[in-house]
Amino acid sequence: MARARLVAGNWKMHGSRESNRALLDRLLQEIPGIKGVECAVCVPFPYLGQIAERLAGSAVAWGAQNVSEHAQGAYTGEVSAAMLAEFGCRYVIVGHSERRQLYGESDAQVAAKFAAAQRAGLVPILCVGETLAERDAGRTEQVVDRQLQQVLNLEGKDSVSKAVVAYEPVWAIGTGRTATPQQAQEVHGFLREKVLPETRILYGGSVKPQNAAAIFAMPDVDGGLVGGASLAAKEFLEILKA
Ligand code: 13P
Repeated sequence: MARARLVAGNWKMHGSRESNRALLDRLLQEIPGIKGVECAVCVPFPYLGQIAERLAGSAVAWGAQNVSEHAQGAYTGEVSAAMLAEFGCRYVIVGHSERRQLYGESDAQVAAKFAAAQRAGLVPILCVGETLAERDAGRTEQVVDRQLQQVLNLEGKDSVSKAVVAYEPVWAIGTGRTATPQQAQEVHGFLREKVLPETRILYGGSVKPQNAAAIFAMPDVDGGLVGGASLAAKEFLEILKA
């Protein structure tokens, strides 16, 4: 089953209008020369206008890092999926471990966000992943299964297959400690059995130019969700080439 490869940058809460401009200029220069992989950047909400203007008509897609599960209403500070669609977003990350851990997002809430994103025509990037304690306790599969199952129960296998799943072991995020290609493949293989064969499953967690090629070579790894290294054009481009 040939699945289109995707490397998505997650800028997290980084950027400025000026640094964004420099980064996008570099990407726009080089990306037309990189074949066989789709590139996307998921940026903070205030930059969506700038990014949409700069990337319109280019080979680089863009998206957001979070979305409300509600369509509209009295939810101060929240942003709806329809609003993201108006800014031309293709993707939106849902259930990032930082949202789950720091902002208490539950599996049920993440599933509702996933559904809201799809209703607005966006492609959700659903993040799943275990903490170090959960891995050490041998509970990795149980945890990612629970996180995925909520969405499967709510939306069904077909919907999930049109989305993107990202396996991001929490212990590998921003720590410089990456899963080995074998560790990634084990979990990707497990997730693969739960979704349809065409579902893209990305790996995220300290992806760098030095480790990207080995991880991306695994049969059930269809690309990456890249944090820190997506903020440096040179590193991000090297990962895309991998
Ligand atoms: P790092 O690549 O900085 O480890 O972040 C991974 C991540 O959380 C992407 O969503």
